Formats: sequence, C-alpha cells, structure tokens
Amino acid sequence: MTEPVIELDEIRKTYRSGVIEFEALRGVDVTIREGEYVAVVGPSGSGKSTLMNLLGCLDTPTSGAYRLAGEDVSTMSETQLAEVRNRRIGFVFQQFHLLASKSAWRNVELPLVYAGVPRAERRERARAALTRVGLGERLDNRPGELSGGQQQRVAVARALVTEPSLILADEPTGNLDSSSSADVMGLLDELHDAGRTIVLITHDLQVAERAQRNLVIRDGQITDDVATGLAAAGGSR
Ligand SMILES: Nc1ncnc2c1ncn2[C@@H]1O[C@H](COP(=O)(O)OP(=O)(O)OP(=O)(O)O)[C@@H](O)[C@H]1O
Ligand SMILES: [Mg+2]
Repeated sequence: MTEPVIELDEIRKTYRSGVIEFEALRGVDVTIREGEYVAVVGPSGSGKSTLMNLLGCLDTPTSGAYRLAGEDVSTMSETQLAEVRNRRIGFVFQQFHLLASKSAWRNVELPLVYAGVPRAERRERARAALTRVGLGERLDNRPGELSGGQQQRVAVARALVTEPSLILADEPTGNLDSSSSADVMGLLDELHDAGRTIVLITHDLQVAERAQRNLVIRDGQITDDVATGLAAAGGSR
C-alpha cells in the first residue's frame, strides 16, 4: 500500500453568521493514499466545496485533524497554509481562473514564480507542462485566444508544473462541452496512470465513474465510500 497523502480525522466545520451556526461537516474521517483517483459526489449543500476548501488548505476545520503528506496542516497560520498550498497542491477550478492578460506560458509558470524558481528553469518547466497537455504549439496565446477546453488544459498544466503531492479539481468539466470534457477527463486519466493523486468534485456521475473510488457526502458526512469503474471490476488503472 502507498503512503497516505490525505488523512482526515473527525473533521468538523461550523459556519457562524451572527448567532446562527451551521455545521457543514459533521465528523469526516478519510484517508486517501498516493496514486489514488477519488471523486467526491453528493447533493447540493451536502458539504463538497467545504471539504474541498479544507483539503486545499484554503480554510481550516473547526475541529479535527488534517495531515497532508504527513504534515499537520489543521492548526497552521494563513502564511504557512499559503506556503503548503503552493508546494503540495495543484488546483483546477470550474472557472479556469487564468490571468486574461498573460500568455499560456506565463500563466503556467506563475506558481514557480511564487516558489522562487529561477527564470530559465521556470520557462522550461512551463513549456514541458504545456506540451504534456497538448498545447506545446500555443505557448504564447492568451486565454481569450483559446477554446474553453484548451483553457482548462492550461489550468491543468499550471496545476502540474510544481509537481504537487495532490491535484484537486472542483467541477473541472462544469463549464465545458462534452468533447472538451472528454479531453480534460482523458488528461486526468493520464495523470493518474502516471502516478498522480487526484481528488475531484463533480455533479456528473459519468465523470465520477472515471475515478477509482467515490466518496458520497450527505449532510456533512461521508455516507458511502465505494470502488468504481475498473477498480470495481478488479482492474488496476
Ligand atoms: N460561508 C458560509 N456561511 C454559512 N453557511 C455556509 C457557508 N458556506 C457554506 N455554507 C453552508 O454549508 C453547507 C454546505 O455547503 P457547500 O458549499 O460545502 O455545499 P456543496 O456540497 O458544495 O453544494 P453545491 O453542490 O451546491 O456546490 C450548505 O448548507 C451551505 O449553505
Ligand atoms: Mg459546491
């Protein structure tokens, strides 16, 4: 068995607005290991984005422990969390979140700028990541000059370029037509085959089926944890 990347222990998250409290996560225990491909599914309001924000070190739990690649991140300061995010996590969002005024190349090298990687190495690694996602010929195009599917592939290249422990994708195909969705999902399959750990949120059961494992969340709790796709059929993709 591979090493755990994510270890959640009795995670609770309570939102407070004035005197009103809402417990969005009610005791979540999950371990996700290196190389796993996991989809988080569940109805609207069940806590998927709340969970994703915690996994991505964008927010901290009200109680419980979160270890990311062995490091306890549940009690870290904002600054420490920002550093962990940059070092360990690659994000892919529904809205791509690319900088409109920057070329594909510049968008992809940005996480390396934050990490203090020298310019020549940044350029080379960004070029390699864009080539990896099939955009080696589009290095100098800005997001507005690319299709939605191509923009999402730039976002995947940006998520990859730091060689993160974990790729987190929140509805990565939510804004794509079916052919671009298939492209992006094919890319995630390839990354998984290359040994990456991937956690994605989706409403789309066909997308969830591509993963190895589905976590079903309802009312802030994991109610099902099932093998899917080839994993369920005994395969080992
Ligand atoms: N900042 C907040 N303050 C108060 N309540 C919140 C806050 N953010 C989320 N919630 C509540 O927590 C619950 C879980 O929200 P969350 O966004 O995690 O759901 P979700 O599963 O991602 O839903 P969707 O599929 O609609 O995106 C919801 O009832 C929501 O209203
Ligand atoms: Mg959500």
